[in-house]
Amino acid sequence: MTFSVKDMIRQRKSVRTFDGRALSDADRNKLEEYINRLANPFDVPVDFRLLDAKEYNLSSPVIVGENTYLTAKVKRQCHYEIAYGYGFEKACLYALSLGIGTVILAASLSRSTFEQAMNVQDDEVLPVGSPVGYPAEKRSIRDSLMRKGLKADDRIPFGKLYFESTFENELTKEAAGDFAEALEMARLSPSAGNKQPWRAVVNGDKVHFYEQKSMKDSPLGDIQKVDVGIALAHFDLTMKENGYAGRFAFDDPKIQTPAETYYIVTYERNR
Ligand SMILES: Cc1cc2nc3c(=O)[nH]c(=O)nc-3n(C[C@H](O)[C@H](O)[C@H](O)COP(=O)(O)O)c2cc1C
Repeated sequence: MTFSVKDMIRQRKSVRTFDGRALSDADRNKLEEYINRLANPFDVPVDFRLLDAKEYNLSSPVIVGENTYLTAKVKRQCHYEIAYGYGFEKACLYALSLGIGTVILAASLSRSTFEQAMNVQDDEVLPVGSPVGYPAEKRSIRDSLMRKGLKADDRIPFGKLYFESTFENELTKEAAGDFAEALEMARLSPSAGNKQPWRAVVNGDKVHFYEQKSMKDSPLGDIQKVDVGIALAHFDLTMKENGYAGRFAFDDPKIQTPAETYYIVTYERNR
C-alpha cells in the first residue's frame, strides 16, 4: 500500500460537488492501473471501470461538476456483496490519496445507462457507481442539505456497534485491545442512508461481523451487505497497516443475535 489507509479514512467525506475539471492523465492512469489489479479477500472477481460521463450519458441528480464515474459489476454468487463493498471502498480510498473525491451512489444513479455502459448480463449486478473528480471548494446547497438530512457526520458510538463475547456486553476500546483502532476505522465507514448496519462481537482472537438490517432488499439485492463489505475493508486494511496478519472465514459462532441481525463473516487474527 503506497498510502496510509488510516489517514485516508480519517479524511474521507463523500463529495457530491466537483470543480468541473477532468481527471489529469496521470491521475486517471494511476486509478485505472489500481482498479485493474484490485483484489479482495473473498476471491470474488469484480469488474471495475472508469467511464466518461458524457460518452455514456451517465448522471446523478445529486452530483454537480463531474466528468467521470467509477463503477463495477459482479456475478451474483456467494458473498458477492461484501467482496464488492470491500473492493469499491479500497478504490475510493486510493482515489482520495490522489486528491480525487468520491461518493458511493446506489439509488441516485441513471442506473440503466450505467448498466448499458457496463454491458451487465442477467447473472450480473451493478450495485453502485461513484463520480471521480476534484472536489469543488464549496459544497452545493443541495449537497449541504443532504449531508444535514443524512446526519452524514454522525456515527453510532463504539459500544453500540461492538460487543464482547455476546451482544449483551458493550465493548470498550480498552477491552478491544489490538482490534480497537481497526474497529474505530470501521466505525467511520460510509453507508447507504448513513444507517451503519455493521456490528461485531469480539471473542479472543476472533471478530464476528454481523449485519443489522434496517432497509428492505431491492431487486439488486441487499445494499446493506455492501455497507458491511466497506466496513470490513476499513477494518482489514487497518489491521494490515498496524502490522497484524489474519484471515476471514465463514464460521458462524451461533451467538444469540438481536432482531434483524445476521451473521456475515469472522476475522481471525494470527497468533
Ligand atoms: C452503499 C452506499 C450507497 C449510497 N447511496 C447513496 C445515494 O444513492 N445517494 C447519495 O446521495 N448518497 C449515497 N451514499 C452516501 C451516503 O449517504 C454517505 O456515505 C453517508 O451519508 C455518510 O457520509 P460520508 O460518506 O460523508 O461519511 C451511499 C453510500 C453507500 C456506502
